[in-house]
Amino acid sequence: MIKKNKSYIELGERGNYCLKNKLNDLTGKEWIKFSKSWFIHRPPRRKDEEILHPAKYPETLVEEFISFFTKEGEWVFDPFLGTGSTLIAAGNLKRNAAGIEITKHYHKTSINRIAKQKYSNKIEALKGSSDDLQKVLMKNNLSDIKFDYTITSPPYWNQLERNSMRQKLRSDKGLATKYSEIKDDIGNIKNYDEFIERQAKIFDNVFDITKTGGYLTIITNNVYHKSRLYPLAFDTAVSLTKRGAKSWILKDEKMWLQNDKPLIALGVNNAWVSNRHHQYCLIFRKEAD
Ligand SMILES: C[S@@+](CC[C@H](N)C(=O)[O-])C[C@H]1O[C@@H](n2cnc3c(N)ncnc32)[C@H](O)[C@@H]1O
Repeated sequence: MIKKNKSYIELGERGNYCLKNKLNDLTGKEWIKFSKSWFIHRPPRRKDEEILHPAKYPETLVEEFISFFTKEGEWVFDPFLGTGSTLIAAGNLKRNAAGIEITKHYHKTSINRIAKQKYSNKIEALKGSSDDLQKVLMKNNLSDIKFDYTITSPPYWNQLERNSMRQKLRSDKGLATKYSEIKDDIGNIKNYDEFIERQAKIFDNVFDITKTGGYLTIITNNVYHKSRLYPLAFDTAVSLTKRGAKSWILKDEKMWLQNDKPLIALGVNNAWVSNRHHQYCLIFRKEAD
């Protein structure tokens, strides 16, 4: 039963919802639970058309972030949409959402997945490059919208080209081991510094369409290349904070611990190679000057 008094609503086991809550629809109890700097998330098994994408993230995880950083009816954005997971999560939570995907095939997957749902809010899967984000929004009559929150997972630089065990398993099954051959697909950039700059430019575009006070979450990781660790997550964090008038404020990191991944014998009796079973969820905010 919902009981009302002056400053909060009692929501039973969920706890109390404060009517002055500026950010989300969570109770104090739910707010505190999410504020922990790490979490373990066991994603449900991927469905057939989702397995075809080499690096999809789970809607259940995205739902937790969207629930924290927005209220019902607000606008969510994803500049690297892939199979549309962000849009599905936003639709499930009665948020409006738009996302951009460069690859025709994955854009079609997201359209198909959304078509199976009956969302009452606006959910828009757009085809194009986030290098031209404003143009893509304009073409789809969405250029007037200021977004409340962006959550996304960009390509992890050249990681899909790595000769990893996971990639070998995918290629043995005839599954895609890269997103596309498209020049503007930033997963095809060979040079690390060039990748960091192109990625930062796309988040300049996201900055322009975000409300002052709005948040951005980037899910990424540090990555191995030629027996050396590249601090991609850390360089992503730093690069977005040094963009002049379009600088994001870095607020925190949340660690996604992947406790469900099996340990593989890597470098045993020879040299250090880790089983990297975590990802970084970097949290930024657009603040007034
Ligand atoms: C890590 S995946 C995102 C997966 C997505 N979160 C999901 O759950 O399906 C990165 C995506 O960014 C897309 N991409 C790469 N460069 C892009 C660009 N310039 N503009 C828009 N999308 C791009 C790739 O095709 C790929 O699908």
